[in-house]
Amino acid sequence: MFAVTGITGNVGGQVARNLLTANQRVRAVVRDISKGEAWAQRGCDVLGTDINDAAMLTSAFKEAEGVFVLVPSNFDPSPDFREARATAATLRTALEAARPGRVVYLSTIGAQATQSNLLTQHTIIEQVLGGLSMPITFLRPGWFMENSSWDVAPATQNGVISSFLQPLDKPVPMIATADIGRVAAELLQETWKGHRVVELEGPHRVTPNEIADTFAGLLGRPVRVEAVPRETWESLFKSQGMKNATPRIRMLDGFNEGWIEFESAEAGSRKGKVALETVLQTLIIRERKP
Ligand SMILES: NC(=O)c1ccc[n+]([C@@H]2O[C@H](COP(=O)([O-])OP(=O)(O)OC[C@H]3O[C@@H](n4cnc5c(N)ncnc54)[C@H](OP(=O)(O)O)[C@@H]3O)[C@@H](O)[C@H]2O)c1
Repeated sequence: MFAVTGITGNVGGQVARNLLTANQRVRAVVRDISKGEAWAQRGCDVLGTDINDAAMLTSAFKEAEGVFVLVPSNFDPSPDFREARATAATLRTALEAARPGRVVYLSTIGAQATQSNLLTQHTIIEQVLGGLSMPITFLRPGWFMENSSWDVAPATQNGVISSFLQPLDKPVPMIATADIGRVAAELLQETWKGHRVVELEGPHRVTPNEIADTFAGLLGRPVRVEAVPRETWESLFKSQGMKNATPRIRMLDGFNEGWIEFESAEAGSRKGKVALETVLQTLIIRERKP
């Protein structure tokens, strides 16, 4: 049996679907038990817990052959990243107590970066889980292609999308969540010793210009991309309610300046199969649903 956290989200749902297709038993670990109903109907056991509840997480991870651990995004962490430190300690306690056969932790590209930024949250959790003796894979995907869900409405309505990734012709390692879920499910069903890092990106790197061109092709209208000037980011993020915009800004700097990159660079990363066009098409269809 495999325990899957974040199952109601993008990646966790894909992990679970792939495991079920491989005829594996799945324990759906949900925050809100009512959201587990759809998974119960697919034959999963359902267990409700918050990612910060060590006792319930221990129950969720007990007797599992493998556990998929996903920590929800926090775009506005405290300057000392106390939330990530607390989650890391909770996960370590629960995994130590439950002792599942193996763990796949969903981390990120650039988790090895030494400059503080939003992704430092994963650096902290990787370091803490790295102290455990069980087999753990740190799965580090690139920028999610699904982040372009924000672009669907402006592309459709105005033919102009905005980009924090700059310059607009710089290729960025991106990946579809379908590929992440498929690879995570494959990794969970493997056996290995100790700790390993798997870095994952799509079939080819994607520029913001290519995102605009792909939208244009799919929507049958001209679409262009504009760079959001860096000097406006802080006031923009604060106007959106963010208290501490620095980590997010530094993450974007890291992608743009190239210090958020895979440890093994493009040559060493595993490659997914799903093309940008497929993901954008799905996002457009989803947006059009009433
Ligand atoms: N976006 C990117 O480009 C990128 C790149 C690399 C890595 N990542 C990492 O990918 C992860 C996000 O993956 P995703 O897009 O699949 O997430 P998502 O779709 O936003 O789903 C988040 C999941 O976490 C659950 N959740 C939220 N708060 C919780 C809590 N307090 N306790 C337990 N579960 C909780 C949600 O449940 P509910 O349905 O109940 O809300 C949902 O199942 C983050 O760790 C992020 O850092 C993202």
